[in-house]
Amino acid sequence: MYESIPAGTKRGILFLVALCIVFMQAGLWAGRRATQDSFPDNAIAPKQKILSLVRKDPKAGVKEHPIPKLMAEAENRYRKLLSSRSKTLAQAVAEYKRRYRRDPPQGFDEWWKFVQDNSVLMVDEYDAVTEDLAPFWDISPTEFRLRATLAGHLPSVDLVKVRDGEAKAVNVKDGYDNTYSVSARAKGFLSMIEKFQTKLPNMDFPVNAMAEGRILVPWEHRRYPNLTEGSVAAQLSGQYSPDWQGEGNVWEAYRRTCDPGSPARRLFSSTRASSTNQVRLSQLTAHSDELSFAVDVQGNYSFCQNPWAHYNQGHFFSDWRTIPVLFPVFSPAKAAGYLDIRIPSHYYYSQTRRYTYGWDPVNLELRPVDHMETPWERKDDKIFWRGASTGGGSSPPGFAGQYQRHRLVRMASDTSSTNRTILFADPPGSSNYVYAEVPTSALNREMMDIAFVKVVDSFNFPGGIAALLRDHRFDEGGVNLGDHWKHKYLVDVDGMGYSGRFFSFLESDSAVLKATVYREFFEEWIEPWLHYIPLSPSYQEIYNIHAFFSGATQSTLFAANSTTLQISPAKRRPVDGDRRLRRIARAGKQWKRTVARRVDMEAYVYRLCLEYARLWADDRDSMNFTL
Ligand SMILES: *[C@@H]1O[C@H](CO)[C@@H](O)[C@H](O)[C@H]1NC(C)=O
Ligand SMILES: *[C@@H]1O[C@H](CO)[C@@H](O)[C@H](O)[C@H]1NC(C)=O
Ligand SMILES: *[C@@H]1O[C@H](CO)[C@@H](O)[C@H](O)[C@H]1NC(C)=O
Ligand SMILES: *[C@@H]1O[C@H](CO)[C@@H](O)[C@H](O)[C@H]1NC(C)=O
Repeated sequence: MYESIPAGTKRGILFLVALCIVFMQAGLWAGRRATQDSFPDNAIAPKQKILSLVRKDPKAGVKEHPIPKLMAEAENRYRKLLSSRSKTLAQAVAEYKRRYRRDPPQGFDEWWKFVQDNSVLMVDEYDAVTEDLAPFWDISPTEFRLRATLAGHLPSVDLVKVRDGEAKAVNVKDGYDNTYSVSARAKGFLSMIEKFQTKLPNMDFPVNAMAEGRILVPWEHRRYPNLTEGSVAAQLSGQYSPDWQGEGNVWEAYRRTCDPGSPARRLFSSTRASSTNQVRLSQLTAHSDELSFAVDVQGNYSFCQNPWAHYNQGHFFSDWRTIPVLFPVFSPAKAAGYLDIRIPSHYYYSQTRRYTYGWDPVNLELRPVDHMETPWERKDDKIFWRGASTGGGSSPPGFAGQYQRHRLVRMASDTSSTNRTILFADPPGSSNYVYAEVPTSALNREMMDIAFVKVVDSFNFPGGIAALLRDHRFDEGGVNLGDHWKHKYLVDVDGMGYSGRFFSFLESDSAVLKATVYREFFEEWIEPWLHYIPLSPSYQEIYNIHAFFSGATQSTLFAANSTTLQISPAKRRPVDGDRRLRRIARAGKQWKRTVARRVDMEAYVYRLCLEYARLWADDRDSMNFTL
């Protein structure tokens, strides 16, 4: 998912070498203070976001499955969100002031007209904008503008410049406004602001060309942002390479953003800790109960508190260098702890064969139903995922075995006789839930259709390509976006960055199961368990999700010696479960069509631009909107 690095980097890019050294010292100092007992033994997965079933007496079973409750609560929350939204400009202003304790930005009335004219449903839920811009209020307008302009000199960052009501996307690294070697993400942002560019003052938006978040500011400098005030320009010098080149890595940079008292800061170093990571992984598995259902995707999971968990995400092994200074950089997604400013992904906004549902490449138009869509009754019941064996970089190398995609494919490729605990309604459709210990091999055969389609980065896998091929299913056939619509369950996991396929999956008539470490612009707009099924980072509960919606498989009934075995297989599927799954599929589609249209993304960006313009102004108070 990377765009190529602009050619200008070759000639040496201005960067803050001196500043970096200062920051690195801050991080190393904190590291040196640390004791050497890498991981504290009490580092366990936080449970507050995971709902567990009480298993007092496994033999007796339970009367109530947690999934219907999660679904009902999600629906109530969403109804409330929609019904409580502001109906007038006055209400929207009052709601803004209630939430953020300041006046809305200038142009708010025109923005309000824009959302009204375009039937935008989400008119109040912009906490993400406020959160992302909050650190920049501590920086003076002069310094803020300087940093925005300088950010255009960072590797893989382009500028979208507004001048006299006209925006253009440029690459400034060769010393002039080059409009040719500009990333697709900057062009995407440019098209998102097209409709309202005439209403914006002159300003520069630095747009990240990569999928990953970029800005990781050490905790000490986040706390005291004025430490660097005035010094940024003075320190612009020397060479800067876009990749790590062996000096540092994302995790080293990440843990410096953590509170000095947190476990991540107490590690001596992340490389030293790696020798114990196998132990920690088994702990993760032990703590992630097969019967715990995630309440939400883990976008707010604290890697500062659970440093060992970073080994499970390719994200922390990215080859691309992060930036330790608070530059305003617009990115499609970020993990918790990053200070990028979120904007909609260009994969969601633009229309392409690979990322857009219903895209007709012949007539170049969108269809309401994709030409490969399959009626629900004919969709396959297995859980489906296809993708390449990427999902992280190799800084440091050798950790690919634990990346999110590899763990998923390996779990679904497991042919061992280890048992998994399955909870299911017996007889089907009843509320008598019983447990069975079922061999993993049988469950994977019956429930899973998960495979890599392409070998990538096999050198980064411990044991090389032979081990990769042995432990992971590969489907040589490849897959098109449209092939996904043959399946009721679609898994969506992170790749090198966030998953650009999420919106197309939602828009299809299939139900989406999503796990991610990223936070995107729409996080307040969507409701897990209503529009999609959230998956925990370990995926261990996926078998019980399937058992709930699709009923017990043959091997599950067999393991339980269930009398249901005497009923013919066609009659065993719980009607209610299948109906519920279909309801999630439909709600996801409806959400995409009412809340995540292109114009909704424009509304988000429009409001973000007004806030950004206020930060840009010398007199910020003069840029307030009052009725
Ligand atoms: C930075 O801000 C803090 C708190 O506002 C203040 O105490 C400190 O003196 C400032 N430092 C500089 C270098 O301006
Ligand atoms: C994540 O954390 C941020 C900042 O603490 C908060 O504003 C946001 O509501 C949280 N999101 C979720 C889904 O918990
Ligand atoms: C799996 O569970 C069954 C009971 O369903 C039991 O007989 C068998 O020994 C278990 N297998 C393993 C490997 O634990
Ligand atoms: C399975 O259930 C039948 C009755 O449905 C019973 O006769 C049989 O003993 C059970 N077998 C085991 C191994 O529990």
